[in-house]
Amino acid sequence: MAKAAEQYVCQSCGAVHGKWSGRCGACGEWNTISEEAVREAPPKGLGTGSGHPRGRVLEFRKLDQHGEMEGPRTASGLGEFDRVCGGGLVPGSAILIGGDPGIGKSTIVLQVVARLAKQGVRCAYISGEEAPAQIRMRARRLGLEDAPLDLAAATSVRDIVATMEGADAPHVMVIDSIQTMYVDSVESAPGTVSQVRASAQELIRAAKRRDICLLLVGHVTKDGQIAGPRVLEHMVDCVLYFEGERGHQFRILRAVKNRFGPTDEIGVFEMSEAGLMEVTNPSALFLANRGGAADITGSAVFAGLEGSRPVLVEIQALVAPSPPGSPRRTVVGWDGNRLAMVLAVLDARCGLGLAGHDVYLNVAGGLRIGEPAADLAVAAALVSSMMEVPVPQQAVLFGEISLSGEVRRVAQAELRLKEAAKLGFTKALTPPVLKGRKSTLAVTEIARLPELVELFANDGVKAV
Ligand code: TYD
Ligand code: MG
Repeated sequence: MAKAAEQYVCQSCGAVHGKWSGRCGACGEWNTISEEAVREAPPKGLGTGSGHPRGRVLEFRKLDQHGEMEGPRTASGLGEFDRVCGGGLVPGSAILIGGDPGIGKSTIVLQVVARLAKQGVRCAYISGEEAPAQIRMRARRLGLEDAPLDLAAATSVRDIVATMEGADAPHVMVIDSIQTMYVDSVESAPGTVSQVRASAQELIRAAKRRDICLLLVGHVTKDGQIAGPRVLEHMVDCVLYFEGERGHQFRILRAVKNRFGPTDEIGVFEMSEAGLMEVTNPSALFLANRGGAADITGSAVFAGLEGSRPVLVEIQALVAPSPPGSPRRTVVGWDGNRLAMVLAVLDARCGLGLAGHDVYLNVAGGLRIGEPAADLAVAAALVSSMMEVPVPQQAVLFGEISLSGEVRRVAQAELRLKEAAKLGFTKALTPPVLKGRKSTLAVTEIARLPELVELFANDGVKAV
């Protein structure tokens, strides 16, 4: 009998290490490794010889001889949520909703299941964090107190699984949060990787058996005190992250994995007094606070794409001379490496001399952009700030910049232009893609980055 060994587990990604270290070698996070008891003996392999039973040969059937996925999706009616899920909740699927504490996870799942309950779907909300009275108060604020939703405070997975297997099991079940749940046969404390994994495994297995849709809430933590949702990502069918800056009222629900629908789809919400409101026209929202003055420099509107939907956002840049030494590069909402690349191309191909300047870049409204198509808008904001020449207020930009300084085509140019036209923009600076195509906007094609800089240098930008 081997003695109960200790192992060192990263609470962020679940990687197991032989000894403690300050930084997880697997995911690169700092201070996330903690000691846990080894839960069970590692598998011994199949073994050979007479004492071991032989496996059974699998019986294959052709693709079309297997059953089809049963049951339609259940739409909650909260359109932005349903779209991110791929059209609604699939019976027997497990959905993980991750996000920072306080971002609004409990609020959105409550809104979803209360709406479903009102439509007659049997829903249960299991809270391991808040007392039922607190949830009732939240439901009152949301105007959903009258929804026929089953609510209980519980943390024992054994009890919850028994409920799921009972006679009147719900169709949809919320676990808020997975980090408070525990399996009593596992020794570690709730919130550790072993517990979070074991709890999720049991709950998901029961949900699949009974065709229950499981919504798991998971906190993202930076300090590694409790296991993050990343240890669960591969176990669930769908991973949604709820993001947003705490100071902003916008919240973005992003699908990063979905076995039943598209990923990269986002849902936009606004946190109000009465809960999360759907934002069906995010561009209007992200641009709502744009300054009215025409002479603001360092601001450019990027015509972007989030999933299937075009979204217009303002990109702000500030370029200021820096004291000797290493200049600052601060970026919020975009990739820092990508900014470094655009700066290098502006330096090398356009001779802009940004090396002696501090550069700050911000995507307004708390949105995080991942598209390289934002390069041209970023470059325009930078050049505009540096030369103190405003980008025309009525213009949108998009285009990817290559290391040679060329402006490359991006996907869905027409969709982006259409969205811009819808919001009242009249001009666009784009890669040369639109020859022969019609657009209601006055399109200026930029083939190489130096052409953009030239426009600003010679005041030609006013005439685009
Ligand atoms: P919550 O859903 O409790 O966050 P999480 O479960 O992710 O920790 O939401 C917390 C924040 O939302 C809290 O700061 C208050 C705010 N809020 C509103 O602004 N309006 C509302 O109607 C509700 C219910 C919450
Ligand atoms: Mg909560």
